[in-house]
Amino acid sequence: MDLLIKERKIPLLCRAVRSSSRSGIEGPSTQPSVRTGDRSMTFPLTGTAARGLTKEEIIQTIRPKLRRVLIVLNNKGGAGKTTTTANISAQLAAALYEAGSTKRVLALDLDPQGNLGLDLGYQGRPGDDEGQSVINVVEGTGPLHILRDVRPHLDVVPGGKVLKRTTASIIGTRSIDPRREILLSLAQALAEVASDYEWILIDCPPNIADLQHLAAVSAEYVLIPVCFDQGAIQGLEGVSEVFDVATPLNPALTPLGVLLFGFDRQHLRKVKDEEGGVIGVREIGFLAKKRREIEGVLADSGIPIFQTVITRAVNVADQCRKHGRVFAELADLSAGPDWKKHAKQHQLTLSSESAETSAIEMEEATAEIIRRALALEAEAYA
Ligand SMILES: Nc1ncnc2c1ncn2[C@@H]1O[C@H](COP(=O)(O)OP(=O)(O)O)[C@@H](O)[C@H]1O
Ligand SMILES: [Mg+2]
Repeated sequence: MDLLIKERKIPLLCRAVRSSSRSGIEGPSTQPSVRTGDRSMTFPLTGTAARGLTKEEIIQTIRPKLRRVLIVLNNKGGAGKTTTTANISAQLAAALYEAGSTKRVLALDLDPQGNLGLDLGYQGRPGDDEGQSVINVVEGTGPLHILRDVRPHLDVVPGGKVLKRTTASIIGTRSIDPRREILLSLAQALAEVASDYEWILIDCPPNIADLQHLAAVSAEYVLIPVCFDQGAIQGLEGVSEVFDVATPLNPALTPLGVLLFGFDRQHLRKVKDEEGGVIGVREIGFLAKKRREIEGVLADSGIPIFQTVITRAVNVADQCRKHGRVFAELADLSAGPDWKKHAKQHQLTLSSESAETSAIEMEEATAEIIRRALALEAEAYA
């Protein structure tokens, strides 16, 4: 991989990552693993064997292993979930790689659209099973299939069209006990591999409640991107329904915060000191109004809206998805000496938008999000 996230982006995250390592939640990896020719990896599913245990026993065993699982959730499509999952995963993995960590990042795609594979560039590669292994885990017929090294220190569990089967044939069961067991199946499979990973991120689908519940039962934190064109209440309603279903099985589930996504950059004004140096940004117009509106909806919930805003950059996002790069990678490419040649060869155009700005926003958002998760972790498990 020639597109490592560069120096300029690392220090902030490294600090977050290093301090996170200090908290020593997980011990060194003991998980057996098998490397195969297509750089994918399969783990034994002892979760299936655990199916004789009571619900309480399962929860007690798996919860401590899943304290760094973060799901990205919003019931609406186009809210920025996949972009956020891909970028945060890549940023964290790059920081861990730079820090020489033995731990990695796992990104799991639970969306039948499989767009994470586009954003991270592994769609259609050998080992992309389009969600088959997630179905196997849910059905108890096979292990979680992990595609290794889509970036240094970044592994994925692919999603895709096969996941459509979950709702129809599996989680569709309405009798309570089998349903609970099924809802816990992904959490069990993730607990099996969690010691290899500093962070596990799950990209959730919009509008498929059963898959959202499966993710929420596995997670500690819920990150909620809210898009500029989305009603504040509408965005958060679906999320609270997921909490209602998941918390009886997963009382640890915690909303991490709202990430404002796709807002017009013109509504961020630079604040300068007397010498003309930039000392901050001020939100104006629609963006300021939207933040106040969402703050109003969140009211006393204690759920923050992250300070960092991911601004609208349609062309940058387009190129990223088309070419399987995250923002920082595109920024590095476009800043490099061979950019013109490369752009021509790969039909990349950025017009007036700056991939660098998008990359910095994502880096700042990642740092803020991880800082908040670590603060909550310290509070809950001190
Ligand atoms: N900063 C951005 N500005 C504008 N469009 C973006 C930005 N980032 C991502 N996009 C595009 O917005 C669309 C929806 O984003 P996506 O992350 O797929 O949302 P979701 O996963 O919630 O459906 C995608 O086409 C994506 O490429
Ligand atoms: Mg998506």
